[in-house]
Amino acid sequence: MAHIARVYDYWLGGKDNFAADRLAGDAALEAYPYIAAGVRANRAFLSRVVRYLAGEAGIRQFLDIGTGIPTGNNTHEVAQAVAPGSRIAYVDNDPVVLAHARALLTSGPEGVTAYIDADFRDVDEILEAASQTLDFSQPVAIMLIAILHLIDNEANPHAVVKKLIAAVPPGSYLAISHLSSDIAPAARAEAHARLRELMYEKQTLRSREEVASFFTGLDMVEPGLVRIPEWRPDNQADAKSPSALWGGVARKR
Ligand SMILES: C[S@@+](CC[C@H](N)C(=O)[O-])C[C@H]1O[C@@H](n2cnc3c(N)ncnc32)[C@H](O)[C@@H]1O
Repeated sequence: MAHIARVYDYWLGGKDNFAADRLAGDAALEAYPYIAAGVRANRAFLSRVVRYLAGEAGIRQFLDIGTGIPTGNNTHEVAQAVAPGSRIAYVDNDPVVLAHARALLTSGPEGVTAYIDADFRDVDEILEAASQTLDFSQPVAIMLIAILHLIDNEANPHAVVKKLIAAVPPGSYLAISHLSSDIAPAARAEAHARLRELMYEKQTLRSREEVASFFTGLDMVEPGLVRIPEWRPDNQADAKSPSALWGGVARKR
């Protein structure tokens, strides 16, 4: 059966995917071709966010949950290009991501990267393992990029995010991108129905308001919660690219 990490790798033009992943990926693309631009926009969002956090915001520690199969511009590469001493703990629960984790453990000599094989829902396990790499008395950026829509409401992702935020000190950041239920919903409905049938992970689309509530109690960084290409775009052409994900960054007071 198709799995999201490998389907996403396929959409990005990677080679770490199987026939079932390509079949699901193509079925969704056929129904909604803008998915391809959307996943590229998501990687570009991740890069801009990490560049902002390591640069302007002065963050040196990253907890990247839902890492994905390594591709170009992974979090540690972007962060360490700005601040070579950056420390990154990656977390994913897919065995294929674990198999490729070596590509994430390529920290520069001044920084550190670690990989934790764990489920987003097991916060205590994640925090305990990450504390070997990250100093939780210093600010940490919690990166939840394109993972929360893979967590259904039954697992109470809002409570999990709250627990993560509680574990980091003031001056820390939360970055999220999330598949929307309210950007071009009719045009995307068939693609999501096909993925629901063909892919192991079921996606839970959320409205802008539901995504905003993950940031409750935090100070949103400008421009707030927007379509991801509109978050501090490098140029106005990029800002117009199609994407059905909401994205934002916020700071803990
Ligand atoms: C769409 S990919 C996003 C990868 C990367 N963050 C990005 O935005 O380019 C989602 C990743 O989340 C991981 N994931 C899904 N559910 C998870 C869970 N419950 N715990 C940990 N990782 C999970 C998947 O294995 C996959 O690698």
